Amino acid sequence: MNKKTEWFASWFDTSYYHILYKHRDDTEAQEFIKNIVALLSINKQDNLLDLACGKGRHSIFLNKLGYNVVGADLSKNSINIAKKFENESLRFIEHDMRNPLQHKYNVILNLFTSFGFFEDDNEDIKILKNIKNGLKTDGIAIIDFMNSKKVINNLVPKEVQTIDGITFNLSRYVENGFVIKKINFEADGENHTYFEKVKCLDLTKINLYLDSVGFKIKHTFGNYQLDSFNENTSDRLILVLE
Ligand SMILES: C[S@@+](CC[C@H](N)C(=O)[O-])C[C@H]1O[C@@H](n2cnc3c(N)ncnc32)[C@H](O)[C@@H]1O
Repeated sequence: MNKKTEWFASWFDTSYYHILYKHRDDTEAQEFIKNIVALLSINKQDNLLDLACGKGRHSIFLNKLGYNVVGADLSKNSINIAKKFENESLRFIEHDMRNPLQHKYNVILNLFTSFGFFEDDNEDIKILKNIKNGLKTDGIAIIDFMNSKKVINNLVPKEVQTIDGITFNLSRYVENGFVIKKINFEADGENHTYFEKVKCLDLTKINLYLDSVGFKIKHTFGNYQLDSFNENTSDRLILVLE
């Protein structure tokens, strides 16, 4: 499929995506960042990459904590918004994570389900390979993914949300191994339909991916408070890789 028409290249680049998710819990995201940097004793001199950073909410917070951060994302519009927050130790770049990284980092973060978007497993593996090759010696990667089993077991098939005057009709279903969210709404005089499609990756399959690129799991957590992972009850699947 042409890169321009892939669902993640179009939907995440719209202003409507940011409207739909404007109420997400940034306090919890910041607590997670505080918890993980404390647990891993990440040095203030380290270089961090927030891969698939969106508008940069984690990058900006990490930078406020004193870290040197690069945020990278495919979405031109998100990067343009994030760039307003740039300073000497915070930079944002447009980058497709399927392409190799140009620099090496001590820590690479991939947060809030920014993985598993691709039909072809080799593309998922390519991203992990790019992350591995983009790490300095003894570098670590942090992947914050959904807990597929819990998401599937608790799927809400239909939901309507009105935000900023836009009524979003959401349908959720599982098809061909992907959790799919169909997003339909009227805005700016047009009817729009977008999709989010995230692969139902479980720990067994992720382990196969990790083995193929030579990553080892250092920690597995099940939520932003860093409690241990339970496939039936955890909200998240958070992996620290080395
Ligand atoms: C669920 S959002 C999470 C954004 C951010 N991490 C956050 O927590 O706000 C997923 C992000 O992945 C980005 N993305 C999707 N495909 C990408 C790719 N191939 N390369 C880089 N970024 C990509 C999207 O543009 C979007 O910003």
